[in-house]
Amino acid sequence: MKIIEVDHYDQMSQEAAKIISEAVCSNPRTVLGLATGGTPLGTYKYLARDHQLNQTSYTQVHTVNLDEYVGKAADHQQSYAYYMNTHLFKPVGIPHTQTHLPDGLAVNLKDEADRYNQTIQTLGGVDLQVLGIGKNGHIGFNEPGTSFDSETHLVHLTASTRKANATYFSTESDVPTQAITMGIATIMRASQILLLVSGIDKAEILYQCLFGEVDEQIPATILQTHPHVTVIADQEALTIVK
Ligand code: F6R
Repeated sequence: MKIIEVDHYDQMSQEAAKIISEAVCSNPRTVLGLATGGTPLGTYKYLARDHQLNQTSYTQVHTVNLDEYVGKAADHQQSYAYYMNTHLFKPVGIPHTQTHLPDGLAVNLKDEADRYNQTIQTLGGVDLQVLGIGKNGHIGFNEPGTSFDSETHLVHLTASTRKANATYFSTESDVPTQAITMGIATIMRASQILLLVSGIDKAEILYQCLFGEVDEQIPATILQTHPHVTVIADQEALTIVK
């Protein structure tokens, strides 16, 4: 794994945006795999800025997101579709039909997971996958214990993940209990992975992710076996590594 050390969150976001915009410039038909949550917000802000300043074109880009909550419509403010439309898709002008997320309102959630997995394959797979990491080592919503062979599937969110995501809801009980997520095998098929890690809260798990035994109890440890991972981490997140 290549590790890029940066001073702070803002610098992490700038570096990540640079890597993503360069990928899009060198291949305008790039398939981007994208994450939500707090970590990539700054990256999306810099991508929007770059699009305005340098006219980087996203008209041919396709995107696939890691996950979506069950029970949230795409126009619901707490859905990941809404987050992506607001923070990235509209600001950089990705045509709506080229943006893909699981449908959290699907009647048959298992069929929806299979359909989404097929969508990713039909696009030819992900060229560049952006990841954040949960404090328990989850990537996407693949919680500890998820099989490394998993494809896109329905998950029951753990108490710790629901607690971490409660900041985006009025109360913890409003946080959905289920989500559809790309599986670990799905994520690992991406040609390139960009893992973003910021803050002291992520220091312990970043250390485990980089140097711990590869173990399904800490899903992110699988990234050690991927041939093309770049980690951009700030000083606080690197506290234990150094
Ligand atoms: C988001 C996702 C999650 C987050 C992780 C970290 O689409 O799949 O794995 O990347 O929970 O979240 P933040 O960035 O909010 O700390």
